Amino acid sequence: MSRPFRSRRPVTASTLCSARLGHAFAAGVSFVALFAVLWSVLLLSPTRAWAQAVANPVPMPPTPGVLQSSTQPAIQVVTQAATGQLAGQPAAPSGADTLAGYAQQNNGQREQVQPGNNAPMWRALKQQSGFSSLPAPEAGVLIQPQARYPGSDFTTAGEAWRQARNLLLIPVGGWILILVLAGIGVFYAVKGQIRLHQRPTGRKIERFTPFERFMHWTLAYSFIALAVSGVVMMFGKFVLLPVLGLSLFGWLSYALKTLHNFVGPLFGIALVIVLLTFVRDNLPNRRDLAWLAQGGGMFGGAEVPAARFNAGEKIWFWLGVLTLGLIAVGSGLVLDRLVPGFAYTRGAMQVAEIMHASATVVLLAMAFGHIYIGTVGTEGAIDGMRTGYVDEAWARQHHALWLDDIKSGKIPAQRSGAKAQAPIAVAKPKI
Ligand code: HEM
Repeated sequence: MSRPFRSRRPVTASTLCSARLGHAFAAGVSFVALFAVLWSVLLLSPTRAWAQAVANPVPMPPTPGVLQSSTQPAIQVVTQAATGQLAGQPAAPSGADTLAGYAQQNNGQREQVQPGNNAPMWRALKQQSGFSSLPAPEAGVLIQPQARYPGSDFTTAGEAWRQARNLLLIPVGGWILILVLAGIGVFYAVKGQIRLHQRPTGRKIERFTPFERFMHWTLAYSFIALAVSGVVMMFGKFVLLPVLGLSLFGWLSYALKTLHNFVGPLFGIALVIVLLTFVRDNLPNRRDLAWLAQGGGMFGGAEVPAARFNAGEKIWFWLGVLTLGLIAVGSGLVLDRLVPGFAYTRGAMQVAEIMHASATVVLLAMAFGHIYIGTVGTEGAIDGMRTGYVDEAWARQHHALWLDDIKSGKIPAQRSGAKAQAPIAVAKPKI
């Protein structure tokens, strides 16, 4: 196997740039380490905020007629009322609950035998919808019916959603992101950057047209805005709130939530255009299996010849960008209430939120990998997306089949601008 080519480079803008990337990476690793420590303290701490929030809901006064936010206090009210122990109420006549038809009584009948016991009313509120003149779907439903979401008990749907979010999505999502970032850090520490094996030739090949780059960067920057604001919305309450305090965190999360709501549709438009732009070169073929079988040469051995996009990029395209991206955008548009004619019930919003959070956490974890490979992980990869051009040596090493197609004239070396169809451009070698 040829040894990586290393030149003694003079200090140029590009070496300064890679030095800066090195510093940025070191800063990133420190940030990840800090983030991991914070999370570990938080998750291992006996006062786990989210577990507590569910185990000890805000205590409500046990007053009949006051709507309870969680089933637990409501049950307390009912039990206390059933035994006639509410403050200021006369004790219930003993044995009232043994009367025939006790369980079928309505609230009026119950009042006769057990004054102050409103259990039938609460039961009816949970099971039936009443009348409301408000022009909104399920406006007559005060308390949602019972449901079970992933990771929740079978309980009132609002509470079930809260449990799914606090007990499953947030801790598991947090750990996925931390472990992926840590894994990338370890991979970089062990393997380092994939260097160019050959000296740059100076012959430049157009890898991305200005339109492709514009759409990619629109997608990337909008994704970063969504990722930062989304992470603050999901984890900020546990990580940032204790540091920033209520007022500052309130303003910050409100501002970021508003940004998130507006950037989402822009991301959706850019996503569809990027999908259409790159779909043809991401169609799978037999050679992708060979690439996958050898892990793309990332774990040793030679790199398997790949077409314009290798199998790893195709997985990113189909699983990450297309599947998870479309789930994220679809559920996001529901949460933004931008889908016309959609019945925006609480249940639909809860399901949309669970789908959105799950898809975006996995998409973000995959994006960490994509961004790593496209920047510090592979020498010269960012040049294609930054300038539009890559060196022929880079193309030979990473996308040999694509280069062969260009050399044989199957694909034009230059696809954009006045120089379209021109032969491979020669630039001064960067040594
Ligand atoms: C800071 C963030 C990002 C960086 C630095 C980055 C970098 C890159 C680079 C260097 C390439 C070219 C790879 C090659 O020449 O083969 C690329 C391609 C691509 N990127 Fe990104 N990217 C970023 C964010 C994103 C995001 C958020 C998405 C989608 C949600 C995305 C989707 C794509 C797609 C679809 C391609 C074409 C290759 C393929 O189909 O797999 N990128 N990116």
